[in-house]
Amino acid sequence: MSPMYDGSTSYRPDPPENVDDDLHPVIHAGRVAVITGAASGIGKAAALELAKLGLKIALADVDQQNLTVAGKEVATIAGDANILVVPTDVADLDAVVRLRDKVYEAWGEVAVLMNNAGVADKGTSWSGLDTWKRVFDINLFGILNVQQTFVLSMLHQENQAMIINTGSKQGITNPPGNAAYNTSKAAVKSLTESLAHELRELPQSNVTAHLFIPGWTFTGMSGNNKPGAEKPAGAWTASETVLFMLDRVRAGDFYVLCPDNETRHEVDMLRIMWSAADVAEGRPPLSRWHRDYKSLFEEYIIDGIATVQRQ
Ligand SMILES: NC(=O)c1ccc[n+]([C@@H]2O[C@H](COP(=O)([O-])OP(=O)(O)OC[C@H]3O[C@@H](n4cnc5c(N)ncnc54)[C@H](O)[C@@H]3O)[C@@H](O)[C@H]2O)c1
Repeated sequence: MSPMYDGSTSYRPDPPENVDDDLHPVIHAGRVAVITGAASGIGKAAALELAKLGLKIALADVDQQNLTVAGKEVATIAGDANILVVPTDVADLDAVVRLRDKVYEAWGEVAVLMNNAGVADKGTSWSGLDTWKRVFDINLFGILNVQQTFVLSMLHQENQAMIINTGSKQGITNPPGNAAYNTSKAAVKSLTESLAHELRELPQSNVTAHLFIPGWTFTGMSGNNKPGAEKPAGAWTASETVLFMLDRVRAGDFYVLCPDNETRHEVDMLRIMWSAADVAEGRPPLSRWHRDYKSLFEEYIIDGIATVQRQ
């Protein structure tokens, strides 16, 4: 279970539960993290936070200019010898193979594989086919390219390792507005659940999978690249989201459902349960936004929060 978070303050991690930081086998000084989409936002914040913990970092991104800048920042923490900056388009399998070869040649292992690169170009259900293809090539096939290239090598390692795939609440509750993105992130959820099952069914596996579901995070994708942009009060910073995620994967969670300053954990849980009940109870899809169900949904949230507060 994620810790209760009342949404009133910025997130500062408590010491990880039941886990001695120094003894965690994967998120551990001297081990190796590979992060896609590391030039900006959540990926860059993950590179910085993992470097602070002493990991060696391979930063991969298609945006070479921002990648160089991010690499320099991470190097100030990790040292030049402990970073690799590898321009990589995750949609290009050959480029992903080159990334793997560089990392294994340099360091011989991968402890944390973070599939974070993503785009949110908009496509509606009957328009923008090229956009759909681009979004799927990056958000879904980008992850598949990386998994199919890295997992076998990771399984052959002696030491424990983890794969963290970045999904989205939009891939679970499917809010109207960007069908292409939502569908791609629903596929990431499904893929990562299958990955976790397949890994745990192996007779011997030292690799775990985790679905990282950020809350509203102030990044390039959510407006941070616009001149003079200021973080909206409701959003978390990328480093808050990453610190929350690291706490939860260290504690062994598969679903890492992150809150933000606007949406607390209980509200996310209620929204997800409402969404699943559309199927189970035979309501129209996306009933949360359906004119005949909207007020019922609002009552359900108010009652649900009241119940949690009484407990
Ligand atoms: N920001 C949020 O509120 C939020 C919420 C839920 C999920 N997410 C997810 O978090 C992940 C990180 O996004 P972010 O918010 O930090 O946005 P961001 O735009 O700041 O970072 C995304 C990075 O991915 C890179 N990228 C795009 N296409 C690529 C490709 N083909 N190959 C390699 N790299 C590529 C971009 O260059 C960029 O550096 C994404 O998967 C996104 O869907 C973000």
